[in-house]
Amino acid sequence: MAQFALITGASKGIGKNIVTELATRKNNVLLVARTEALLQEECRQLRATYGIEAFYLVADLANPAAPQAVYDWCAKNGYQVNILVNNAGYGLSGLFTQYTAQQHADMLQVNITTLVQLTALFLPMLKQQARGYVLNIASSAAYQAVPYLSAYAASKSFVLSFSRGLHYELKKTNVSVTAVSPGATDTDFPNRANVGAKGKKAAEKLNMTPEAVAIQAVNAMYAGKTELITGFVNKLGAALAWLAPKAVAEKIAASIYE
Ligand SMILES: NC(=O)c1ccc[n+]([C@@H]2O[C@H](COP(=O)([O-])OP(=O)(O)OC[C@H]3O[C@@H](n4cnc5c(N)ncnc54)[C@H](OP(=O)(O)O)[C@@H]3O)[C@@H](O)[C@H]2O)c1
Repeated sequence: MAQFALITGASKGIGKNIVTELATRKNNVLLVARTEALLQEECRQLRATYGIEAFYLVADLANPAAPQAVYDWCAKNGYQVNILVNNAGYGLSGLFTQYTAQQHADMLQVNITTLVQLTALFLPMLKQQARGYVLNIASSAAYQAVPYLSAYAASKSFVLSFSRGLHYELKKTNVSVTAVSPGATDTDFPNRANVGAKGKKAAEKLNMTPEAVAIQAVNAMYAGKTELITGFVNKLGAALAWLAPKAVAEKIAASIYE
């Protein structure tokens, strides 16, 4: 039976580039996101360019019923998933109080709960394959508190900690869990997160391309690494955030996102 890589947030940005990277390596792919037109066109191009199987499911991963719906779609169609990429995610920047409780809950649902539920649902299937992989996309924001991006940064700390813990638990199995933390990457992320002009300007100076991030992420996943921070500058940033007094690291971050 054909095996598939399942990628959430596959319609654009880092997710779309991870899909391309996996397709280049001849993986069949299953794409999940909300924008049907993008997913449809992407599947058409992937089949034509790489001669692989490519299918999509339109799903809003902020919907608590979505993880089960994704799993049922795979089970019903007999898709055997050997790679799960939890990439879908977004931020809400600015004052915590400028967003409603529901807006925060929706973001945490996508960034945390859906990621955990998809992992729980697909792990038994991943274990049935000769080799299984989970790739979770965290962020450089996972390494410190980020004022004015507080809930998002905390959600990515969760992703990192959860992924590391699960990697250890699964050490003696055929499934590896890899957390990849990109820093500023040239995608639609700042617009969706309402990042202000100052934050966008800072990001532009440091931006990596989503293609470069995707290649590093897929390489780390296949190497079975526990954790990877993409790019030298982001590695240095995480090290400095760890070394500096927390109040200093937080003041610098706040000056970017305020
Ligand atoms: N770009 C950065 O600077 C950066 C830095 C660190 C970490 N990251 C992380 O990288 C991951 C990818 O982000 P990106 O930069 O590629 O951003 P992006 O260009 O905005 O792409 C986000 C992807 O997630 C999907 N998505 C968002 N909300 C969704 C929902 N409710 N249901 C289903 N799909 C949803 C989007 O598709 P639809 O809109 O079609 O649903 C899109 O495919 C995220 O986890 C983000 O936190 C990004």
